[in-house]
Amino acid sequence: MQDTPQQSAASEEVPNKYHQERLEQPEPPSGCPMHATWSPLNKDYLDDPYPIANALREEYGVFYAEELGYLVVTEMADLEAIFTDHETFASVNVQDPVFPLAPEAQAILAAPDFNPVAVMSNRPEPDHGRIRVHTRQGFSNKRIKTLEPYIRRRGNELIDAMLAGKSPTEFVQAFAFPLPGETVFRFIGFPESDDEMLKNWCGDRKAFSWGRTTPEAQAEIATHMLAYWRYCRNFTASKRDNRSDDFASELITAHEENPQDLTYQEVESVIYGLSFAGHEAVTALICNTLQCLLSRRGVWAEICADASLIPNAVEEVLRYNSSQVSWRRLTTKDTTIGGYDVPAGTAIFMNFASANRQPDIWDNPNEFDIHRPNANHHISFGKGVHYCLGAKFAKFETQIVTELLADRIPTLRLVEDQHPDYFPNITFRGPTTLQVAW
Ligand code: HEM
Repeated sequence: MQDTPQQSAASEEVPNKYHQERLEQPEPPSGCPMHATWSPLNKDYLDDPYPIANALREEYGVFYAEELGYLVVTEMADLEAIFTDHETFASVNVQDPVFPLAPEAQAILAAPDFNPVAVMSNRPEPDHGRIRVHTRQGFSNKRIKTLEPYIRRRGNELIDAMLAGKSPTEFVQAFAFPLPGETVFRFIGFPESDDEMLKNWCGDRKAFSWGRTTPEAQAEIATHMLAYWRYCRNFTASKRDNRSDDFASELITAHEENPQDLTYQEVESVIYGLSFAGHEAVTALICNTLQCLLSRRGVWAEICADASLIPNAVEEVLRYNSSQVSWRRLTTKDTTIGGYDVPAGTAIFMNFASANRQPDIWDNPNEFDIHRPNANHHISFGKGVHYCLGAKFAKFETQIVTELLADRIPTLRLVEDQHPDYFPNITFRGPTTLQVAW
């Protein structure tokens, strides 16, 4: 029999470790419906989760996915209740590998200097609140606005390069992959020369925490994770003597002003965390936005004629075709969800894809409508104390990009009859390739 994710914990749980292999989890909640075969990694679900997610919500509401070893929660009211009760539903597991690591990978990550600590998404209160105070400043509206000239200049350069090449072209490599990574790396302060390496490491991290890979691939990924963490440590150390107008310098100054309130190791770990969080989901959101808009020519024409429609259109993409379709929690005590008794230690899979299409919240939820008045009631950025710190950043960047593309290439269209792949993982969703023409 195959191990479920938490059953083969290999190491002792260490408090506040950034990526933890969890100890054995309790028996599935008694009386709760079981599903033997559904997994978010099934090919049909990766390709199009929505019809299946709708059916799971209608049939079960809450159920235990045996293949995954998680209790799956599909309805908005239950997701909101979980998100807003951070004492019962801890976020400690959100960066953990879903499946047990192979011994080779464990051995590599046992290096004594592989020691990132949980800081933001995966750190419980009160420490999380203490650390978040120091990061909030960096994400102020004013600070985000200062990125606009960079996004416009770099976006225009990438469009110039696309237009100078052949139509059709592959949009992920040409535009959606480079721009968000470069933007957040400049925001953090990483040098341009390291962009390619950092982006590749982030791809490894997606596979490490949210994917399912072979033992051989895991060993290679673990080697890259170690190199990535060491890079973040060296970068932080170099910034200590070389401050500039960037987020890393702000964090180091905050640490020096009050070392008890923000430790040096926490600064290193925030940089490690943000370098991933800041772009993977944005790359996917830009692609999902184009898929939704370009496949409806009338809607694209409206966007090209009136850029003020873009902010609500992006909200509707976040609802209808989000770049993040799930998130996780771990129960800290016995509780109930959807009427079922759930023991402490149960891993929860929060299904955004099902909740974002709920018919009692949105009229015709399976239709894409950029004029929808309550498009922004989606759950794609979470809720409560861990609400996405980069939500405004992500939306702002996607809005500017959509505006640039509509302005410069109104004839942009999707190449017909393409069937893009989706990187196999439980959470992030965007096509790995997208052929566009003009
Ligand atoms: C479309 C893009 C994005 C989506 C869909 C997304 C989604 C999410 C979600 C679901 C959470 C967890 C919320 C919770 O547990 O309640 C989260 C947390 C977080 N996100 Fe995002 N995110 C996106 C972009 C970004 C960007 C661009 C950044 C940074 C530049 C960012 C930084 C963070 C951080 C730091 C947290 C943890 C916050 C905390 O625990 O206090 N995200 N995001």
